[in-house]
Amino acid sequence: MTGLFISFEGIDGAGKSTHIETLAQAFRAQGRTVLLTREPGGTPLAEVLRTLVLNEAMDAMTEALLVFAARRDHLQQKIQPALARGEVVLCDRFTDATFAYQGGGRGFDLKVLSTLEQWVQGIDDGAKSAIRQPDLTLWFDLDPALAAERLASARVPDKFESQPVEFFSRVAKAYGQRMAEQPGRFARIEAANSREAVGQAVILAVQHKGYLP
Ligand code: TMP
Repeated sequence: MTGLFISFEGIDGAGKSTHIETLAQAFRAQGRTVLLTREPGGTPLAEVLRTLVLNEAMDAMTEALLVFAARRDHLQQKIQPALARGEVVLCDRFTDATFAYQGGGRGFDLKVLSTLEQWVQGIDDGAKSAIRQPDLTLWFDLDPALAAERLASARVPDKFESQPVEFFSRVAKAYGQRMAEQPGRFARIEAANSREAVGQAVILAVQHKGYLP
């Protein structure tokens, strides 16, 4: 069985995390082994980097370098081995988040991000070179004003969650640009709908790709 890599994206407050477990259960019901993981994070080293990125003040380049360092470790230690074993990897955020948050939100150079993406996710088997990307990215698209309302009633905000709504408008726009550039990999989920409707949309998007019956 070949491995399957699915990422979940969206601005803070879009509600993606609650649907990851539901999708994991759907795959387990098919007899698949599922790895649930997240970025930044997923390995002991990457979790240490996550704590720094989410809590310490730093410039956009430092942030980008740290999330890509975390990603490198995560890919090497966890994601690639799981895919090689034929498992389903469900990852709460991946590189699109860097293009959205550091690129869109912080205004960091997208060309530099593309170079880092090539370095960190490059697969070179001699005959061909490619970039490791998710097979499918579920983008939970929500109006930033609505997301801010949801966040206001939730936990104590971290460094990103306490950003103003304009920051999230730029992040959301950058997600849209990523989807426009790589339409085959993305499925846009209307995240303003009820939890049940969003859950159904997630399953449908995965079925549409032929990954679930
Ligand atoms: P989470 O709260 O969904 O776990 O995500 C952690 C935060 O880190 C979220 O606000 C988005 C941010 N982030 C980046 O800024 N760049 C990245 O590359 C990733 C993966 C997350």
